[in-house]
Amino acid sequence: MIVESSLTETRRIVRAARGRGVLIGCIPTMGALHQGHVSLIEVAQWECGFNVATIFVNPTQFGPHEDFTRYPRTLDADVEMCRAAGADLIFTPPVSAMYAESAQTIVRVGGLAEVLEGSHRPGHFDGVSTVVAKFFHIIEPDRAYFGQKDFQQQLIIRQMVADLDLPVEIMTCPIIREADGLAMSSRNRYLSVAERQQASQLFQTLLLAEKLAAESTLTPPEISRQMADHLSSVAGIEVQYAVIADAVTLKLLQHRSNPAVALLAVKVGSTRLIDNQILRFR
Ligand code: PAF
Repeated sequence: MIVESSLTETRRIVRAARGRGVLIGCIPTMGALHQGHVSLIEVAQWECGFNVATIFVNPTQFGPHEDFTRYPRTLDADVEMCRAAGADLIFTPPVSAMYAESAQTIVRVGGLAEVLEGSHRPGHFDGVSTVVAKFFHIIEPDRAYFGQKDFQQQLIIRQMVADLDLPVEIMTCPIIREADGLAMSSRNRYLSVAERQQASQLFQTLLLAEKLAAESTLTPPEISRQMADHLSSVAGIEVQYAVIADAVTLKLLQHRSNPAVALLAVKVGSTRLIDNQILRFR
């Protein structure tokens, strides 16, 4: 496995692999890898002949008061995890190589990026779509792998790829959860022992939504209210949103219809967590 920080060298290595006739997979990450990332690399490795994991803590997707400087940087451990999962190349550029001081271009997706995470984290998705577009131009992958955990993010990337006619197939892989249901996230390591326990209620809330969608006649706004009530009853949790939306447009659902997704964002202490679950209204 190669670890490379140069854009031109990465492009050269990937083009040489493509010349051998294999599919190129790309797994964009910000490092601090966990089993969720590993599962993406493993799927990529089954499907593609040459796989590039990017490790880049992207400054442009963090707000001024967010955790950019304290975001965990664990490159040595990440390299070992990528190697074990079967990645062929890690692309880990410095910030200066990704963003020239003279840069003036951002890639902005409209409507989908303005709701939910977009309204709580202004500018966040501009940073995500810009850096992912840059990775796609450098690596030119046939397939790129994202986790369902960032549900809105994968929809936005799909929209960007469609709008810009980028020749890459977006693959969304299932959320990987801890034994008690907490979705794996690099930010889970910020949680204290007590907060870690409180955080398990996110999954319980999604299970509640799933049950109410399948077994009750409640409307999506009524189920959303129960989700918010459940979360608010847990000491230490501050609810930012708990909603049921159309799983394609992210418009909030008023009536029981599919495809539907329950999405939530909370703060547990000072740590912000998100999670989601596809629902089936019967
Ligand atoms: O999901 C992430 O880790 C990041 O948003 C991504 C896609 C790697 C872009 O920086």
